[in-house]
Parts: sequence; structure tokens; C-alpha cells
Amino acid sequence: MAAVLPLADLKRQVRPDTWLNSIIKGDCVAALEALPDHSVDAIFADPPYNLQLGGTLHRPDQSLVDAVDDEWDQFASFEMYDVFTRAWLLACRRVLKPHGTIWVIGSYHNIFRVGAIMQDLNFWLLNDIVWRKVNPMPNFKGRRFQNAHETMIWASRDAKAKGYTFNYDALKASNDDVQMRSDWLFPICSGNERLKGEDGKKVHPTQKPEALLARVIMASTKPGDVILDPFFGSGTTGAVAKRLGRNFVGIEREQDYIDAASARIASVEPLGKAELTVMTGKKAEPRVAFNTLVESGLVKPGQVLTDARRRHSAIIRADGTLAAGGEAGSIHRLGAKVQGLDACNGWTFWHFDDGQSLRPIDELRSVIRNDMAKLD
Ligand SMILES: C[S@@+](CC[C@H](N)C(=O)[O-])C[C@H]1O[C@@H](n2cnc3c(N)ncnc32)[C@H](O)[C@@H]1O
Repeated sequence: MAAVLPLADLKRQVRPDTWLNSIIKGDCVAALEALPDHSVDAIFADPPYNLQLGGTLHRPDQSLVDAVDDEWDQFASFEMYDVFTRAWLLACRRVLKPHGTIWVIGSYHNIFRVGAIMQDLNFWLLNDIVWRKVNPMPNFKGRRFQNAHETMIWASRDAKAKGYTFNYDALKASNDDVQMRSDWLFPICSGNERLKGEDGKKVHPTQKPEALLARVIMASTKPGDVILDPFFGSGTTGAVAKRLGRNFVGIEREQDYIDAASARIASVEPLGKAELTVMTGKKAEPRVAFNTLVESGLVKPGQVLTDARRRHSAIIRADGTLAAGGEAGSIHRLGAKVQGLDACNGWTFWHFDDGQSLRPIDELRSVIRNDMAKLD
């Protein structure tokens, strides 16, 4: 079973081993208050949608639709919903690491309000992902379009947070080498995956599909990261996080859901280290400026760089720029200039002479990156 923590036992700045991979029981705003600043790498939030259902809904055969009419989804007004949304988003922002990201899922009932509040709180929207449902519920009254999708907002903590995790290369490779798009097609949660009680009824009315969470987690976290879910419900985030070698923290008010989530997570077997290694490519590598090569002595001011066939040459200056024929600039700008081109990758164009052969300066950048990796 996943550990369950009563809120009263949590005090802010407690050691992570007391709350990691646990479900905190209580209101999420109060529970978030108890967690340390900048302590989670990612957040997945599936808040109440405030569905505003007016009475019961029937199918054409008069059978009752099992709609989300739970007390936790009801708010007295849009203003009350906004106050609640602002409070939990603000609390989430404090516990999110500076380079962490947050996902919030919703429908047309709430997602526009949530998005506006996120922008007001300085979150920086990275994408809105449309989850298109393979098997959506029909519109029984035939008075509107069939509501066949939900929207997820993916955002960084602020506009300056550039170093967030996005496993671009792995996603592309997993998508037959085609860039992953912002519209995702998945079935709603059904079959064996849907948790049912002894009475055969759904344990939770809005259990999300594990495939959706798997893509969210694979896209925006690394193995070992901590993912927080402030509206844990049946524990989908925790189950998928555990299987994918990530840590989770769940917050949930209702004991029945906590019990179901706890048993569900206990039955999950994590994948092995080899299966979880994330494919990375050039975009995922840390940025190294040419000046770093100068500062670290791998190249020296006054040294001459040439192209691979020695047709063009330039001198390295102490400020990390190159100079040739009365022109100066970055390795890229000067590489383009000497060839009469608009653009050039200076890392592969410029070469240094190691006494035996010409080698691209990109090899020296790799030396720096290898040193950086040893420090991680
Ligand atoms: C939309 S459901 C999340 C479902 C979940 N993603 C899943 O796959 O099972 C929202 C959940 O948030 C819980 N909840 C609502 N308000 C809450 C609050 N203020 N604090 C903590 N949990 C809350 C509800 O009990 C409900 O289980």
C-alpha cells in the first residue's frame, strides 16, 4: 500500500522521505502549504471541472446517465470557482521547482478560466494539448456537438524558465520519427483498467486513462523526478509514475478514493532501469557557449581556426569571438560571412589543428559536456 499521511502530521520543510510516494489526506491548498518550497519537478492537476449539471440526464431509452454530480465538483458561482482555482494554483507554484512544469486538464466548463488565472499568476503557457477521445459519450439531447475532447494546459513556472524537461527526441522516435503533435488520440478509461467496487460500480467518476498520464510523464519528466497530483482521485498519476520509475505525491480529500488509489499503486510493478532510459538528442544537451572553450583553455586567444579544407581561416579573440578580414563575430556569424551564406553552424564548420589532423571544434564542446555530466 502507498503510505497515507494525515495532514495534521505534515509540517512545512519536512524531509522528503516522509511525504514522497505518499497520499496526503486533506484539502489540497492546506496540504500544499505543508510542503517545502521548490520540491517537485512536475505537477499534474485534474481539478473539479465545475460541470454545472442542471438536474439528472437520461439516455433516449430513459436510462439514467452516470454523470459527475459529486459534491466535490460543485461551486456556488464562477467567482467561487475562480477563488478556489487561484488558491491551489498559487500553492502549486510555490512547491514547483524553478524549471518544473505543470499540466492542468479540464473541459470547456473550466479550462478557459483556469488558463486565464494561470497567466495572471505568471505561469508561462507552453502548449494546450487536445485529448481527442476515441469513444466519447454521445450528446443525448442532440442539441449540441458531441463533446469529444478535453484540454490540457502545459506551462512552465514563468517565461524565463527555459531549462524545463521536454523529452523531444524520445517522443519523436516513439512517433515513427515524426514530431509529436498537440492533439492526442486516446480512449477514455474503460475495461479492466477502470476500478470497480464490489457492487460493480465505478470507484471514481472521472478516472483518467493511464495512457494519457504515461505520455504526460514521459514527455515532461525524467526517471527519479517527483510528480505532484493535488487532485489524486483514484491515483492514476501515482500508478503510472511508479511504473515509470518516477516518485509521486498525491493529495486527496475523500477516504474511499485514497483507499482505492493506495491498493492500486501497491499492485504496480516498476519497470527496470534499462527500459526507463530516456533517449536524448542534440536539443537535450546542455548549452555550451564558444567562450567556455576559451575560458577553459581548450582553445587559446590568437589560435587560428580553419574550415575542413583550409579555404577560410579566422583568429580566436580573448572575448570568445572570431575575427577574419576585418570582420568579427560569433563562430556562426563569421562562418556564414566568410562563405557568403545567411547561416552556418560554427561548431561543425570551424576546425582546429591538433598537430596531426583538422578536427571540428564540436569535439571540444563534447569534452565540456562530458565534464558537465560528471558533475550531475
Ligand atoms: C477530477 S477528479 C481527479 C481524478 C483523477 N485524475 C483520477 O484519474 O482518478 C478530482 C478529485 O479531486 C478531489 N478533490 C476535490 N477538491 C479537492 C480539494 N480541495 N482538495 C483535495 N482533493 C480534492 C476529489 O475528491 C476528486 O477525487
